[in-house]
Amino acid sequence: MSSTEKAYSVAILGATGLVGRTMLQVLDERDFPVRKVLPLASAKSCGKEIEFRGETYLTEVPSHEVFSKADIALFSAGAAASRQWAPVAAEAGAVVIDNSSAFRMDPEVPLVVPEVNPEAIFGAGGRPKGIIANPNCSTIQMVVVLKPLHDRYRIRRVVVSTYQSVTGKGKAGRDALEGELAGKIPESFVHAHQIAFNAVPHIDVFQENGYTKEEMKMVNETRKIMCDESLSVSPTTVRIPVYGGHGESLNIEFEDDFKIEEVRELLAGAPGIIVQDDPSSNLYPMPLTSYKKDEVFVGRIRRDFWHPKTLNMWIVADNLRKGAATNTVQIAEKLIGIL
Ligand SMILES: NC(=O)c1ccc[n+]([C@@H]2O[C@H](COP(=O)([O-])OP(=O)(O)OC[C@H]3O[C@@H](n4cnc5c(N)ncnc54)[C@H](OP(=O)(O)O)[C@@H]3O)[C@@H](O)[C@H]2O)c1
Repeated sequence: MSSTEKAYSVAILGATGLVGRTMLQVLDERDFPVRKVLPLASAKSCGKEIEFRGETYLTEVPSHEVFSKADIALFSAGAAASRQWAPVAAEAGAVVIDNSSAFRMDPEVPLVVPEVNPEAIFGAGGRPKGIIANPNCSTIQMVVVLKPLHDRYRIRRVVVSTYQSVTGKGKAGRDALEGELAGKIPESFVHAHQIAFNAVPHIDVFQENGYTKEEMKMVNETRKIMCDESLSVSPTTVRIPVYGGHGESLNIEFEDDFKIEEVRELLAGAPGIIVQDDPSSNLYPMPLTSYKKDEVFVGRIRRDFWHPKTLNMWIVADNLRKGAATNTVQIAEKLIGIL
């Protein structure tokens, strides 16, 4: 940060959680111009110490007063806290970037992945609510990869199956796996069933249509971000006992035909993507590949030999980073010099 650059007061609601802590790391790593941080969490964390760039801050509970001291408020405390506090923070003068599902489908709230639709931050209608939404983690990594392909070949339909890290369920999701591995059988399972040595095709609650809420987020958020209501997404979301990131198997049907080499080049040249695809040397991304990284990793790129104009690939990204904290900080970076 240069000495002449304006620095910002940044409130972090959920600062003691997995995403909130990652936000602090990412703000620091990316040299975000922070004047001070205002760490916020629930009453049980009040007074907890949070370190940032050599300073110690004490965690507070959210209030109109504390938000009135913030320029930017990064929210990662769940939808209920966002519904309660985002309008308060915006009214108090902070621009809220919200990681929860509370406002994502609100037509007055931009839903932004900076590699895909940065213009939405300042698009028609502006930000009448002073809130910008961060998409669901599974959706973010998928649209980063779909965007350059959609621009070139027009996507008709995507069939996606996810392999999602336990950290997607926050501290409780991580602790559940560690507890089970240590032999503790809980009274009720955080992941609906035992997650150790298992895979659970059930993330968030089931809807009347037989899909889970997580799956419907992938359907609806993808259309909003890509600004294309004709895009069909057919998802199955699955929790698996890993750290490091979410994997997704994608089967993508295009309107136009493609050449595999051109697909590789397009992806390798697109922002936020790293192609790791060399089966002859066992090179393909895995959750541990993406751990603590900000990019979306792509491998196993191949033609679907049963279906014309259709591509298979495998993508991985760190859900706490690109799926949450990094995407949020990237949005905040677009506000530098404007706020
Ligand atoms: N984990 C992911 O991969 C991921 C990805 C994308 C989006 N998100 C979203 O990010 C949010 C947080 O996820 P997480 O994984 O960081 O969860 P987490 O580890 O469980 O942390 C939750 C944080 O929210 C705080 N909190 C909870 N209820 C609160 C309330 N009523 N008022 C104030 N603070 C409250 C907690 O404070 P205490 O420590 O005091 O309890 C904690 O700091 C969720 O909305 C989630 O959907 C998560």
